[in-house]
Amino acid sequence: MTISNGTSVSVRELRLNYGNLEVLKTLNLDVADGEFLVLLGPSGCGKSTLLNCIAGLLDITDGQIFIKSKNVTWLEPKDRDIGMVFQSYALYPQMTVEKNLSFGLRVAGTPKAEIAERISRASQMLQIEPLLQRKPAALSGGQRQRVAIGRALVRDVDVFLFDEPLSNLDAKLRSELRVEIKRLHQRLQNTMIYVTHDQIEAMTLADRIAVMRGGVIQQLDAPQTIYNRPVNRFVAGFLGSPGMNFLNGNIGADASTFQVGDVSVPLERYTFEQSVSPDAPVVFGIRPEHIAVGTAASAQPFSQNVKVEIMEPMGSDTLVWSKLGGNNFAFRVEAENHLRTGDVTRIGFDPARASIFDADDNRI
Ligand SMILES: Nc1ncnc2c1ncn2[C@@H]1O[C@H](COP(=O)(O)OP(=O)(O)O)[C@@H](O)[C@H]1O
Ligand SMILES: [Mg+2]
Repeated sequence: MTISNGTSVSVRELRLNYGNLEVLKTLNLDVADGEFLVLLGPSGCGKSTLLNCIAGLLDITDGQIFIKSKNVTWLEPKDRDIGMVFQSYALYPQMTVEKNLSFGLRVAGTPKAEIAERISRASQMLQIEPLLQRKPAALSGGQRQRVAIGRALVRDVDVFLFDEPLSNLDAKLRSELRVEIKRLHQRLQNTMIYVTHDQIEAMTLADRIAVMRGGVIQQLDAPQTIYNRPVNRFVAGFLGSPGMNFLNGNIGADASTFQVGDVSVPLERYTFEQSVSPDAPVVFGIRPEHIAVGTAASAQPFSQNVKVEIMEPMGSDTLVWSKLGGNNFAFRVEAENHLRTGDVTRIGFDPARASIFDADDNRI
């Protein structure tokens, strides 16, 4: 087996079963050197299992794992040159922050001066210098997680594995630490594989996102591609908040329109990836932020009057719920707007920005 230059982590034909349960099903994944790769998917889809296989914490059923083109499939975790950060901080409660950071290095017999230097560098980067003499009980959740990241950082490894490191933190801390992690990656430029179920974290951090479902990678691509050209309805629905609008209808008799209720959307501007048959049942997806409202709507290739049913002020903007061809349909307007429940307003969009899915939920 040859692993191409520039590949940091390579997972080949990986299978992992728990008894009869197939958790990972012949999974392949190549992570480039220095890449920030995010594994994104709902709870139970196998993200942690995959990460733990890479880390060597689980015995795999079949397949191979390479790190820096070395076959590590049967190596102990400590011999894999990885640093791992978990959701639960797993700090030693009786040790100070400094001792927590140095523990692994002391066990490995690293010279004292070098330990001191690495701790100084990591604690500077993570802004935990003032906390070095405290014990974990005297730290906030965010500070504990910084220490946990620091513990991986001092090991000076090629690959960092993160398993939902921010999930236990409140929303404000989560977004702060998210930026810190991104900054860290920009400085260190090492390979990071980061597990999350949070699509915002995935979008903001990733060079590429692997969207997983039921132990299978559904799509692996740059965040914008995943967001704008989802390969199936699952991926389309998993990213974006508020979510994509899905209209259940069918292709028109001449195959150049989408028909939903009494509404007809022209599809000349939509780029089909597969040929379509007239009358085929399809789901038409369009994101709320791609919808123009009022006078701007009439300038769009498709526009239509709709009735305002519900207004949801979000602070920065307002989400408006209406119906299009009998389907629920949401769009955004500015926070300062003149719309009221019951108003009729014009909405419009460019069908080029849509995603159309066939009866099997695959993009067409
Ligand atoms: N030790 C285990 N024994 C049996 N099943 C497990 C074990 N660990 C995880 N699973 C199952 O494997 C699947 C994937 O779990 P996991 O990788 O933890 O998902 P995620 O991290 O995406 O939430 C789930 O269905 C889970 O119930
Ligand atoms: Mg998990």
